[in-house]
Amino acid sequence: MRLLLSLLYAASALCGAYAAIYTDPSQLPDRQYDYVVVGAGPGGSVVARRLAENSTANVLIIEAGGLPDDIEDIAIPYLGLTLGAPRPWNWNYTTAAQTGLNGRSVVYPRGKILGGSSCINGIVWTRGSKDDFDRFARVTGDDGWSWDSLQPYMLGVGHVIILLMSPLEVAEPILKVEQLVPTSDGRDTDGELVASIHGTSGLVGISSQNVLTDIDGRVINTTSELSEFPFNEDMNSGNTIGIGWGQYAIRNGSRQDAANTYLEPASNWDNLDVLINTQVIKVLQTGEEDGVPIINGVQFAPNSSSSVYTVNATKEVILSAGSINSPQLLLLSGIGPTAELSSLNISTVVDLPYVGSNFQDHVLLVNSWEVNSNFTWDDINRNTTLYAEKQEEWENSRKGTFTAAESLQIGWLRLPENDTIFETVQDPSAGSTSGHYEFVFVDNFVGTTPSTGRFLSITTNLVTPTSRGSVTINSSSPWDPPVIDPAFLNSDFDIHTIVESIKAARRYLASPSFSDYIIDTAIPANATTDDELAQFARNNAGTVYHPTSSTSMSAWNDTTSGVVNPDLTVKGTKGLRVVDAGVLPYVPAAHTQASVYIIAERAADLIKAAARA
Ligand SMILES: Cc1cc2nc3c(=O)[nH]c(=O)nc-3n(C[C@H](O)[C@H](O)[C@H](O)COP(=O)(O)OP(=O)(O)OC[C@H]3O[C@@H](n4cnc5c(N)ncnc54)[C@H](O)[C@@H]3O)c2cc1C
Ligand SMILES: *[C@@H]1O[C@H](CO)[C@@H](O)[C@H](O)[C@H]1NC(C)=O
Ligand SMILES: *[C@@H]1O[C@H](CO)[C@@H](O)[C@H](O)[C@H]1NC(C)=O
Ligand SMILES: *[C@@H]1O[C@H](CO)[C@@H](O)[C@H](O)[C@H]1NC(C)=O
Ligand SMILES: *[C@@H]1O[C@H](CO)[C@@H](O)[C@H](O)[C@H]1NC(C)=O
Ligand SMILES: *[C@@H]1O[C@H](CO)[C@@H](O)[C@H](O)[C@H]1NC(C)=O
Ligand SMILES: *[C@@H]1O[C@H](CO)[C@@H](O)[C@H](O)[C@H]1NC(C)=O
Ligand SMILES: *[C@@H]1O[C@H](CO)[C@@H](O)[C@H](O)[C@H]1NC(C)=O
Ligand SMILES: *[C@@H]1O[C@H](CO)[C@@H](O)[C@H](O)[C@H]1NC(C)=O
Ligand SMILES: *[C@@H]1O[C@H](CO)[C@@H](O)[C@H](O)[C@H]1NC(C)=O
Ligand SMILES: *[C@@H]1O[C@H](CO)[C@@H](O)[C@H](O)[C@H]1NC(C)=O
Ligand SMILES: *[C@@H]1O[C@H](CO)[C@@H](O)[C@H](O)[C@H]1NC(C)=O
Ligand SMILES: *[C@@H]1O[C@H](CO)[C@@H](O)[C@H](O)[C@H]1NC(C)=O
Repeated sequence: MRLLLSLLYAASALCGAYAAIYTDPSQLPDRQYDYVVVGAGPGGSVVARRLAENSTANVLIIEAGGLPDDIEDIAIPYLGLTLGAPRPWNWNYTTAAQTGLNGRSVVYPRGKILGGSSCINGIVWTRGSKDDFDRFARVTGDDGWSWDSLQPYMLGVGHVIILLMSPLEVAEPILKVEQLVPTSDGRDTDGELVASIHGTSGLVGISSQNVLTDIDGRVINTTSELSEFPFNEDMNSGNTIGIGWGQYAIRNGSRQDAANTYLEPASNWDNLDVLINTQVIKVLQTGEEDGVPIINGVQFAPNSSSSVYTVNATKEVILSAGSINSPQLLLLSGIGPTAELSSLNISTVVDLPYVGSNFQDHVLLVNSWEVNSNFTWDDINRNTTLYAEKQEEWENSRKGTFTAAESLQIGWLRLPENDTIFETVQDPSAGSTSGHYEFVFVDNFVGTTPSTGRFLSITTNLVTPTSRGSVTINSSSPWDPPVIDPAFLNSDFDIHTIVESIKAARRYLASPSFSDYIIDTAIPANATTDDELAQFARNNAGTVYHPTSSTSMSAWNDTTSGVVNPDLTVKGTKGLRVVDAGVLPYVPAAHTQASVYIIAERAADLIKAAARA
């Protein structure tokens, strides 16, 4: 029955209609909500939709931004890397001055739109490694977060686990996260991925690189020429190590985001209300049980000069405002370190020392080489006529270059075991299936396209930083931005690893397959010594946009770290959970969206189970 209903909803989604979208709080119906979800990125969209699958539960999701419908720049995969620039659907944050970046502040985009950052991201789909998830399970003492336990959420139909579930739940795993779909060019992708490890009927369409480029063969062939860089047929298998084809949240040539996969198809369910253009400014205590505050109130407003509204959930409030805004909201609500709160005259509701601490992100560094080629995507990017042709092709048929993400092949790589850094630093990776750094291959100059020349870029990204930063506030006003300090390149390990990653990229391009292709090191042209490479990194690195861990999970009863328990309830409270990238105790060695969809699926099951208990 549920499957049938879901199919009907999927069909109606093609019209893209929202039945229960409210654009101003004054329009909200007079209704008791069991659940109020704050923020509609992957975390909030998954939770709201799954909770609303119980048709007797009333769910309200509140999103600060508007609707992504019909915004072509968001739908076109090729434009993904351009969406970090200030646009109407971006919070436009910048970091605090970064010591490790020679004092620079760097841009820190976050999506402000239904679908959240999944509407402005690079669309790359990487789950993370088995070791990443097994470490989550280990540090939280909850085996439910292990790689094996989470398989039913990553996959779709056909898993044994379905047989072990109660009749009520049987139909649910059929529609979990992934559905492997064809590429826009319809080619046979055998050998580019292992189809059997992917879901076949989940909600998010996942595909291999949508169109081929001239560098693919060279990148892949290098893996059989240099033993240091093995081929990985599918980095979503649990073992990420090696170089292989990218996978993307792209279906039929268009972006798959949390809004068009999870929320839009559910928008005509009469128990799911979606309130947009409205910012939550605080969560409120509504009662007390055994001396523990119940936090079931949510206060919100369209802007700083409008009326303020309050709704009390009868069961739970779920914060899914993302790694930056969920800790900000907790602090604004008096849930955080008393000293920090009192300096802003915010009275403490719960003294929770680690809100906003433990913050991590990946460091991105662009390296580009001028190449000997008669065509790269630079030719599209600098030629408005050709660009318009490609755009038209996408508009007319959802075919061609614009159906592809700019990030092509990806590699996850480890420092050698005998690297001298390990004499003084304990390996910060989750284990041998996780990389220390990442390569992303791009068929053009990343940044402002030079007026001449054709380029290959490799972003070499640090994915296991030992630095930990923070998200704090310096104002008690919800309309002021939080203070974001990712502490980029703040440790010996971090700077060492990013320097090694540049050297590794240079070794990669010294392969026979690239010998007639690379003309010169374009950027950094003049840096060769470790010190020069370190300066290059400090002067040019930025974010890979993967902030996590600012509202970390830790074990039950752990008083030395963590903001939420293993079931994502906020420590020291009742009725309040956080479900977004912030709860991951470590940034995974992966682009982070897939892991957020996956943990949010389990979170929804934990919330449903708590309601039945
Ligand atoms: C430019 C960019 C590129 C990226 N590229 C990739 C990629 O290629 N692959 C990948 O896997 N990941 C990528 N990511 C990361 C990925 O998008 C995030 O990890 C993921 O979206 C996090 O989901 P979330 O639900 O935790 O938060 P978000 O997606 O950020 O969603 C939070 C939502 O809450 C809303 N919100 C915040 N505060 C409030 C409030 N007070 N009231 C109401 N609503 C509020 C926000 O507007 C937003 O819609 C990228 C991110 C960015 C920004
Ligand atoms: C469905 O939601 C209602 C109302 O919140 C709750 O009482 C009931 O237990 C839920 N059922 C299931 C199966 O979760
Ligand atoms: C971000 O910048 C864009 C472009 O200037 C603007 O339209 C948008 O409103 C800004 N976002 C916020 C939250 O101020
Ligand atoms: C890659 O290797 C295959 C198989 O050996 C070969 O056919 C192909 O031409 C090579 N491609 C490039 C770009 O070197
Ligand atoms: C929410 O609960 C609080 C505390 O019980 C109460 O004072 C307030 O009136 C309630 N608000 C709404 C809108 O029901
Ligand atoms: C603030 O919100 C109110 C209510 O939605 C609206 O009437 C008003 O125009 C908004 N003000 C600004 C400055 O956007
Ligand atoms: C906090 O309150 C005190 C006393 O009212 C006032 O002097 C101080 O300026 C306030 N601080 C802030 C940060 O608002
Ligand atoms: C580039 O050169 C190859 C042969 O080396 C040729 O097949 C191809 O058509 C050329 N492409 C363009 C855009 O000129
Ligand atoms: C730009 O693209 C158009 C259309 O493909 C092509 O005809 C033209 O020669 C290109 N211009 C340059 C300068 O390459
Ligand atoms: C894919 O997009 C094309 C062009 O918009 C459309 O005609 C077609 O129906 C879509 N296919 C699917 C399976 O959605
Ligand atoms: C690490 O081992 C490799 C060979 O296994 C060797 O070539 C390299 O020099 C060693 N590096 C160090 C720092 O000892
Ligand atoms: C490399 O060139 C840049 C830009 O011209 C310059 O700022 C930098 O100091 C040079 N670095 C070295 C090591 O020469
Ligand atoms: C946490 O501590 C309490 C009180 O010491 C104890 O009753 C409870 O079993 C502990 N919970 C876990 C999961 O260890």
